[in-house]
Amino acid sequence: MHLHLRDGEQMQAVLPDTVKRFARAIVMPNLQSPVITTELALAYSSRISSALTANIGMKFEPLMTLYLTDNTKCSEIKKAKASGIIHGVKFYPAGTTTNSDTGVTDIAKCFPVLEAMEQENIALLVHGEINDPKIDIFDKEKYFIDRVLVTIAQHFPNLRIVFEHITTKEAVDFVKESSENIGATITAHHLLLNRNAMLQGGIHPHYYCLPVLKREIHRLALIEAAVSGDQKFFLGTDSAPHSKSTKESDCGCAGIYSSHAAIELYAEIFEQADALEKLEGFASFFGADFYGLPRNRESITLTKESWNVPMEFEFAGETLVPLRAGRSMIWKILD
Ligand code: NCD
Ligand code: ZN
Repeated sequence: MHLHLRDGEQMQAVLPDTVKRFARAIVMPNLQSPVITTELALAYSSRISSALTANIGMKFEPLMTLYLTDNTKCSEIKKAKASGIIHGVKFYPAGTTTNSDTGVTDIAKCFPVLEAMEQENIALLVHGEINDPKIDIFDKEKYFIDRVLVTIAQHFPNLRIVFEHITTKEAVDFVKESSENIGATITAHHLLLNRNAMLQGGIHPHYYCLPVLKREIHRLALIEAAVSGDQKFFLGTDSAPHSKSTKESDCGCAGIYSSHAAIELYAEIFEQADALEKLEGFASFFGADFYGLPRNRESITLTKESWNVPMEFEFAGETLVPLRAGRSMIWKILD
């Protein structure tokens, strides 16, 4: 329920990994030229569909989103709803993450649009980090809750909100205490890793993502939420591919690629927490229910069989280093 598919040849490279594991995905709109209108979303959706037909036999439904800007019009929300393919509008506070420069500078400017979304029942998907450069990077999620999210939730009690890729105990507590209209996605990497993975024994750029990995207490709070069976918490990989050269750079890009092994990694986490029976709800039911989509009828089969993740994948003339590169997996998906 949170995926970066990119575009063009990069999309061609990563799409098969997702389609092998997921029947659909909420597709993020932060392309280099962001998907700010329904027209652009329709065009992006048809590029995804063409890539799917080029790879015969791949069945997959892209659930499209719009990118919110200071200038988004209420009429655009009506168009989005009428399109039938747009399921959410993504709020990137300007400057917080990859391709967020044209994001929102002050959410108050968007209140009329949020009101239109509330009326049209289109979900607001939030990148929950405050865009104040003075705030410590490890505290940006917490400040976003206090200074932004609380205000949105109070003004628009009927707006459905997905707090995306939550990383802190504060976010878990906020979602638990909120109304049924507020849910959250949790990535595999935030469940598997804390910030030591990124910074201990040298700097490991392939573990750099946003929101940045946090302390162990936060990881434990996320695991507790994910395996709790609470339907407010559901799967969203935030798989975000960047080429090896742009990650291993003096100003490296944020994003972790996990589509090649996503469901298998979640299975590992749930098994370690002795909660494998809770995986299906988290992965397949709660997100669909939140978005008002029918639950999938087909199934995949996971088997306990080890395999090694390749060191890198081909990525549009460059290479891509996946999560768990060169190391072994416990669960395998049956073809
Ligand atoms: C994402 C990307 O690269 O598009 N990066 C990331 O670290 N998660 C953007 C995002 O979701 O913040
Ligand atoms: Zn993302």
